[in-house]
Amino acid sequence: MQTFQDIENIRKIRAAEQSKTWGLVPTMGALHEGHMSLVRRARAENERVAVSIFVNPIQFNNPDDLEKYPRTVERDLMLLEDEDVDLVWTPPKEIVYPPRFQTHVAVEKITQVLEGATRPGHFLGVTTVVAKLFNMFQPHRAYLGQKDYQQLAVIRQMVNDLNFPIELVPCPIVREADGLAMSSRNVNLSAEGRQQATCLYQSLVRGKELIDAGERTATNVRREMTDIVLKHDRATIDYISIANPDNLNELETIERKVLISMAVFIDSVRLIDNMEVEV
Ligand code: PAJ
Repeated sequence: MQTFQDIENIRKIRAAEQSKTWGLVPTMGALHEGHMSLVRRARAENERVAVSIFVNPIQFNNPDDLEKYPRTVERDLMLLEDEDVDLVWTPPKEIVYPPRFQTHVAVEKITQVLEGATRPGHFLGVTTVVAKLFNMFQPHRAYLGQKDYQQLAVIRQMVNDLNFPIELVPCPIVREADGLAMSSRNVNLSAEGRQQATCLYQSLVRGKELIDAGERTATNVRREMTDIVLKHDRATIDYISIANPDNLNELETIERKVLISMAVFIDSVRLIDNMEVEV
């Protein structure tokens, strides 16, 4: 496994291995089993696997969240070495955003709802850094988790609109035994907060049950999901959504496949989760 901070070495290796198939797994580090599931899938499907580890400051709309974001690079590198990863990029922010940096990639409509509505500027930061990663690594495939459902949809839109010749591979959400979706931010939960954090998954499961049982009015589903979360005194709801999975617009009536998704603060830790439900 080769690890670099600069861009030049990444380009050199990529160019020298032109004929190989490359899979890229973009991450912000503090790796957990969710990330590792993407890495393993990339390893199984490509001759070369690259991973980027960069806590991208421009996608954090909250300075406190950026400061508290866990950083465990030494451990991350050991985990990636064990999975037989070929190339890792761990740039400092000055390399990604040199002083005169002034270009951003903006995806429009699909970034305005859900996460985009409550985290202004977030997706502009995501698409900008991912476009840079795609240009640098020129991967054949990029592996992205469905945990960040909207992020995947936004990147898919960017790839289509800007004609990146890259296949996106969506990977299922990896959960803890009690249903909590794995997230780098989970380490910031207190012991009590960690217990209460299962309310996101419980609420999603209840939403799915209601839809499976024939409930077709989105407000009714949202109301029951909200009740479950609010039984937890450390939880504050940012949003609970029942949306069209294609454009992420909110629905009144549930007619075909829907995306139920939510963002909830447990104390000050913001967690997201989602579930697709077939009708
Ligand atoms: P990060 O949160 O580190 O996530 C990296 C990748 O791992 C994303 O594609 C995310 O969806 C996936 N992932 C995280 N938790 C997961 C879980 N429990 N199950 C399955 N996949 C999971 O997402 C980012 O970083 C950044 O926004 C990035 C795309 C790297 C751009 O900075």
